[in-house]
Amino acid sequence: MAGLTISQLSKSFNDTKVLTDVSLDIANGEFIAVLGPSGCGKTTLLRMIAGFEQANDGVIYVGDKLVTGKGQFVPPEKRRVGIVFQNYALWPHMTVSENVGYSLKIAKVEKAERERRVQEALKLVDLQGYGDRRPANLSGGQRQRVALARCLVAAPSLVLFDEPLANLDVHLRASMEDEFARFHKRSGTTIVYITHDQAEAMALADRIAVMDKGRLMQFASPKTLYNEPANAMVASFIAQGMVLPAEILSVNGSGACEAMVLGQQVRLRCRADEVVRKDAQICIREDDLELVKQDGFAVRVKRSVYQGGASRIEAVAEQAPELNLHFNLPDPLHLKADDVAQLRIRSGWVIPEAGAV
Ligand SMILES: Nc1ncnc2c1ncn2[C@@H]1O[C@H](COP(=O)(O)OP(=O)(O)OP(=O)(O)O)[C@@H](O)[C@H]1O
Ligand SMILES: [Mg+2]
Repeated sequence: MAGLTISQLSKSFNDTKVLTDVSLDIANGEFIAVLGPSGCGKTTLLRMIAGFEQANDGVIYVGDKLVTGKGQFVPPEKRRVGIVFQNYALWPHMTVSENVGYSLKIAKVEKAERERRVQEALKLVDLQGYGDRRPANLSGGQRQRVALARCLVAAPSLVLFDEPLANLDVHLRASMEDEFARFHKRSGTTIVYITHDQAEAMALADRIAVMDKGRLMQFASPKTLYNEPANAMVASFIAQGMVLPAEILSVNGSGACEAMVLGQQVRLRCRADEVVRKDAQICIREDDLELVKQDGFAVRVKRSVYQGGASRIEAVAEQAPELNLHFNLPDPLHLKADDVAQLRIRSGWVIPEAGAV
């Protein structure tokens, strides 16, 4: 069964288009992250899935149920979609159990049943025994888990998170990431998780949807996004990939090619259907750059930042000063601003011509 299906979804506010033709097929029980620069439309997408916004075009199915499009619009409370925001606003005058059970009370669920479901939800987030506490007497992470339990008590088939950890400190974030991963394993719920934090997305998600300016750029596993970006935006956005111009000299038809990059002949990874062409772009990572004594291409160092055990070197290519490069230089090697060094490219990925998703 499908968990969530979004097809050619578009949304404008006044005359400004904020989502264009977004399509996502999410399997039941899958954990997906939505990643992209500020203002690219992540929250808008989430609000449309939840039913807080109407679509201008396109359809949304939650499971097999049409909730948006084809003349249909199911209101939020009938979608079986739970949502957890960054500001998890619990009611301070209520206990944890009362907070979690509030929606059931409003829905006039009978008391014994209500208590049973509240206990079950607290168990899912590992907060058994905390039911009588007030939010003020909980840690930030525990409060976030109460918010999660409050959303789970309605037994949603889909849970949406909008940057749920953005307000927490680094250590708490790490332990909450574990919590979310465990919760997902235990419950098997389909999850759509918005975050700014790539490491968080990579750690948690089966697949990541990268968005830019209201469009879906690529929807793939973290490894595929890193190793085989579909276009220059994903290449540079994920883990600060470097995008360089290249000429493809020959292809072998099974995922490798020879190319000319900054005056050097390099063997690269590519799609099996890659072709010989002049104006290609490639994506390389820090580890693809190697310092050599001779026969490399020259770079001028702009900045060297010591990071413990290694320095991060930022440099520009002498023959193309608009190309910014960066790589790690392990101790005891050392480079400082304005030094000239030689680099070799060990490997890289040819960005497909169509920029296909
Ligand atoms: N109700 C609204 N009316 C008009 N414009 C809106 C409305 N809601 C969002 N927008 C605009 O739509 C665009 C996408 O906003 P959205 O909140 O979805 O971005 P986001 O990706 O969640 O950003 P962030 O990472 O900063 O939270 C922005 O340009 C925003 O200003
Ligand atoms: Mg947002």
